Amino acid sequence: MALLFLLLLVVVSAASADEEAFIGVNIGTDLSDMPDPTQVVALLKKQQIRYVRLYNADRGMLLALANTGIKVAVSVPNEQLLAIGQSNSTAANWVSQNVVSHYPATNITTVCVGSEVFTSLPNAAPILVNALRFIQSALVASNLDRQIKVSTPLPSSIILDPFPPSQAFFNHSLNRVLVPMLSFLQSTGSYFMLNVYPYYDYMQSNGVIPLDYALFKPLPANREVVDANTLLHYTNVFDAMVDAAFFAMASLNFTNIPVLVTESGWPSKGDSHEPDATIENANTYNSNLIRHVLNKTGTPKHPGIAVSAYIYELYNEDTRPGPLSEKNWGLFDGNGVPIYILRLTGSGSVLANDTTNQTYCAAKDGADSKMLQAALDWACGPGKVDCSPLLQGQPCYEPDTVSAHATYAFDAYYQKNGQAPLACDFNGVAAITTTNPSHGSCLFLGSSDKNATFLNSTAPAMSSKSSGSPAQQCNPVSAAYFMIVVVSIASALLL
Ligand SMILES: *[C@@H]1O[C@H](CO)[C@@H](O)[C@H](O)[C@H]1NC(C)=O
Ligand SMILES: *[C@@H]1O[C@H](CO)[C@@H](O)[C@H](O)[C@H]1NC(C)=O
Ligand SMILES: *[C@@H]1O[C@H](CO)[C@@H](O)[C@H](O)[C@H]1NC(C)=O
Ligand SMILES: *[C@@H]1O[C@H](CO)[C@@H](O)[C@H](O)[C@H]1NC(C)=O
Ligand SMILES: *[C@@H]1O[C@H](CO)[C@@H](O)[C@H](O)[C@H]1NC(C)=O
Ligand SMILES: *[C@@H]1O[C@H](CO)[C@@H](O)[C@H](O)[C@H]1NC(C)=O
Ligand SMILES: *[C@@H]1O[C@H](CO)[C@@H](O)[C@H](O)[C@H]1NC(C)=O
Ligand SMILES: *[C@@H]1O[C@H](CO)[C@@H](O)[C@H](O)[C@H]1NC(C)=O
Ligand SMILES: *[C@@H]1O[C@H](CO)[C@@H](O)[C@H](O)[C@H]1NC(C)=O
Repeated sequence: MALLFLLLLVVVSAASADEEAFIGVNIGTDLSDMPDPTQVVALLKKQQIRYVRLYNADRGMLLALANTGIKVAVSVPNEQLLAIGQSNSTAANWVSQNVVSHYPATNITTVCVGSEVFTSLPNAAPILVNALRFIQSALVASNLDRQIKVSTPLPSSIILDPFPPSQAFFNHSLNRVLVPMLSFLQSTGSYFMLNVYPYYDYMQSNGVIPLDYALFKPLPANREVVDANTLLHYTNVFDAMVDAAFFAMASLNFTNIPVLVTESGWPSKGDSHEPDATIENANTYNSNLIRHVLNKTGTPKHPGIAVSAYIYELYNEDTRPGPLSEKNWGLFDGNGVPIYILRLTGSGSVLANDTTNQTYCAAKDGADSKMLQAALDWACGPGKVDCSPLLQGQPCYEPDTVSAHATYAFDAYYQKNGQAPLACDFNGVAAITTTNPSHGSCLFLGSSDKNATFLNSTAPAMSSKSSGSPAQQCNPVSAAYFMIVVVSIASALLL
């Protein structure tokens, strides 16, 4: 699909395999009331977004991004591509005006030359490699080619037969451009930039691709996806598409070019033909994407090799044409209010909603049910949580699972203790989250509870999860009790 505008993205610098993985955000500007650059940068800072990609090289944005430490990918818009691909001096002027004059105050790390050129502006395909070369030689002339990488974001539709990944190949009619392009990327140590949209792969698959597989949710064993040629197991569409790119490059004998995902995301709203464009699915996709990327899992073909990604996108773009979903890919509205709060337990502070301090304590996904039950029993007993809403017929009885009941009790205990981090451990089966677990008439307490007492977190070592201690491995249930009791004693001492 063509993403014509937009464009802020965070970019990375070097392309070495052992580089840190990062999450960036694309900044499209098709808003009826586009925030000014100072407001955009204030939001980026507040949300601790460290990498952005711009769809142009807007002077106001580049000035606002100066001295922020934010790493910036700028773009040659498709409208300027033909001129730049046909004239070395036009390219040199572009670099001088849009890159050299801002660097190093603005940490430009990447130049994206065009956007999905093969599908959005196919008549420019013949000059695309020249445009890459001209921009690169202008950077060389300014001695910036080591700091700044040059590439071009490609749509995944140029990869034919991506499932199973081992059979993927590029649309042969593009090889005349792709082969010299891959040579360029290889010789300059740059990235293969790919836009990956499991949402569209799922929508266009007519039911072949399960929704859970697109959303990075666990699949039942009988629906696991195995590539019969390589016997590699795939648990999500994102990895399969990135590996398809690796295999397609390998079929042209390029085996050492890293992949950088320049766009990926999920729309939070759609029209009647787009029933899976929902807030819940968008939150699930983007939260899982962030966790997946930052976990540095790599892909089945290249485990452990970082594949960084820019989320599409920062703002909902209300003036974009097309179906309703086109206007609803953003994490924020034009006022900087989140469309949804990402579920980023355990992923650090990327994209935290730190305008309020609303946090909750929840049972971890996949936590051992015996340990959860033990912690639940403790919270409702010695922990003095009022667990009566969990009784049959009461608002928090449904869903009647250990995990849901434990989440209620954990959160009540955590709020009672003033959201002290060590009050949300429960021997490692609980974690702090920004997602409100309230459902139906079962309302959870949040940070607005002014009656919460503040637990001074001075108790040394109490925040340690102490996972892997021999005692726990011998007897997880009693170890759970042990750890929780220690926490409660500390709480009692401090309160
Ligand atoms: C820009 O970011 C890169 C990548 O993190 C870093 O190595 C470099 O020092 C930064 N450059 C400037 C001028 O801040
Ligand atoms: C393009 O311009 C650069 C200087 O910006 C120069 O070093 C290079 O040789 C030129 N390349 C061509 C193909 O003219
Ligand atoms: C391959 O690329 C050509 C040229 O862009 C295009 O006309 C054709 O439809 C593509 N084939 C497939 C199967 O996508
Ligand atoms: C890739 O390399 C192999 C072995 O060197 C060669 O036989 C094959 O023709 C090459 N393929 C392409 C597309 O260049
Ligand atoms: C994180 O990485 C570990 C080890 O590489 C893996 O076992 C785990 O499933 C990964 N988690 C996610 C959410 O990808
Ligand atoms: C997140 O921040 C926005 C903007 O300040 C606020 O309106 C919203 O209520 C917050 N959401 C939560 C769950 O804290
Ligand atoms: C959130 O916490 C920070 C630091 O703990 C504090 O400075 C800020 O005032 C709090 N914000 C709100 C809305 O409570
Ligand atoms: C604080 O506690 C008092 C007395 O228990 C209660 O009446 C009041 O509603 C509580 N306030 C909040 C915000 O929960
Ligand atoms: C605990 O925190 C309160 C409020 O921040 C402070 O007044 C008090 O001195 C602290 N007590 C200890 C023992 O640190």
